[in-house]
Amino acid sequence: MARVLIRGGRVIDPAVERDERADVLIEDGRIAAVDASIDARDAEMVDASGCWVTPGFIDLHAHLREPGQEYKEDIASGGSAGAAGGFTSICCMANTDPVNDDPSVTEYILDRARNESPVKILPVAAATKGLKGEIMTEMAALVEAGAVAFSDDGRTIMDSDMQRRVLEYSKMVGRPISVHAEDLSLVRDGVVNEGPVSTKLGLPGNPAAAETINVSRDVHLAEITGGHLHVGHVSTGGAVALIREARARGIHVTGEVTPHHLTLTDAETMGYDTNTKMAPPLRGPADVEACIVGLADGTLDAIATDHAPHAVHEKEVEFTEAPPGVLGLETALPVVLQLVRDGRLTPMQLIAALTFRPAKVFQLETGRLTRGAPADVAIFDPERRWTYDTTKGYSKSRNSPWNGKEMIGRVVTTLVDGEVVFHVDRGVLHP
Ligand code: DOR
Repeated sequence: MARVLIRGGRVIDPAVERDERADVLIEDGRIAAVDASIDARDAEMVDASGCWVTPGFIDLHAHLREPGQEYKEDIASGGSAGAAGGFTSICCMANTDPVNDDPSVTEYILDRARNESPVKILPVAAATKGLKGEIMTEMAALVEAGAVAFSDDGRTIMDSDMQRRVLEYSKMVGRPISVHAEDLSLVRDGVVNEGPVSTKLGLPGNPAAAETINVSRDVHLAEITGGHLHVGHVSTGGAVALIREARARGIHVTGEVTPHHLTLTDAETMGYDTNTKMAPPLRGPADVEACIVGLADGTLDAIATDHAPHAVHEKEVEFTEAPPGVLGLETALPVVLQLVRDGRLTPMQLIAALTFRPAKVFQLETGRLTRGAPADVAIFDPERRWTYDTTKGYSKSRNSPWNGKEMIGRVVTTLVDGEVVFHVDRGVLHP
């Protein structure tokens, strides 16, 4: 029997509200025991002293670009970036080429993941064929093939009747619809948040109302269909308020927010750096504040990276021409740990938003360290300082606003099903 003992760390497991020094025993890839002191001399030892030991992180929203755009990222590089960032499950979006709108593509992704990725890859299938918003995908067949949710992310389903039907069908198959909530008729050619910064830069603005109007519509559609609406990358206080109110009324709405929307404002774009361009855009301080409050009070469930790799040559163009998106998997933890250092989130709240709560949103059995759960574990030193250098990262792309910045907090070891898949000194170890 393969046994691993993680010794001497601060174990934080939101599933049972545990936060204490403890040992974690793993047997045959599953959590066997968590206790103050476990004697297991025959087990492989993993030293966690000075570290936090938490469930492996679950990313509900990443773009791994395979199939079709492997020059930006692929399942091996994206999975490795995830492992280095403490992520043990990555849900990958459907805007690949071909689009993941057919069971054959879902199966291809899962097959590649089995052979190439050190961490679990969970495909999110498209809600409509080719992400065109016109014809629904075969949701039951996609779930059968392994899809965990549906999303046309990157595009909004603008036809409200189509969105209604998508929510209705997703209810039948028992899976959420994760939405990219931007009213495209309001976004027009907007590339930065509409406000003083867009005026100063002379760039077309994308108004907060584009998000709130779309979330408002979708909340109403979730109400009349009873479907599970999951709002992707929330960026505005207006959307947080709508989700809060909808939840209070018993509508099945969940939400996620990215590390960048929690910590950066549109002031970052003042230098026209295309590595600060994403959709939705960075917003003003009041919106950032509302997102933090929404996460702290439970309105928002998850921190999701929206890891969106783009090649250097694609980003080295005029701001208006560059594709939107930033890397996220390797920097998410240190970036959001700042919220704990600033006293905005408790360690338990932060870890819940990276593990237990996203697991609940997509109905996964991971995200917990309770007996019998898959032994997906992140071990990190919350104080360790390091400088993020995209050229030394695992992603194939370089488009990060944090490149060259000092980070506080570093993943030391990541385990998937009880196997060490990343160690900070040895790198990615599997497959
Ligand atoms: O910034 C973004 N990039 N937002 C999206 O919704 C899509 C993503 C991408 O695929 O690059």
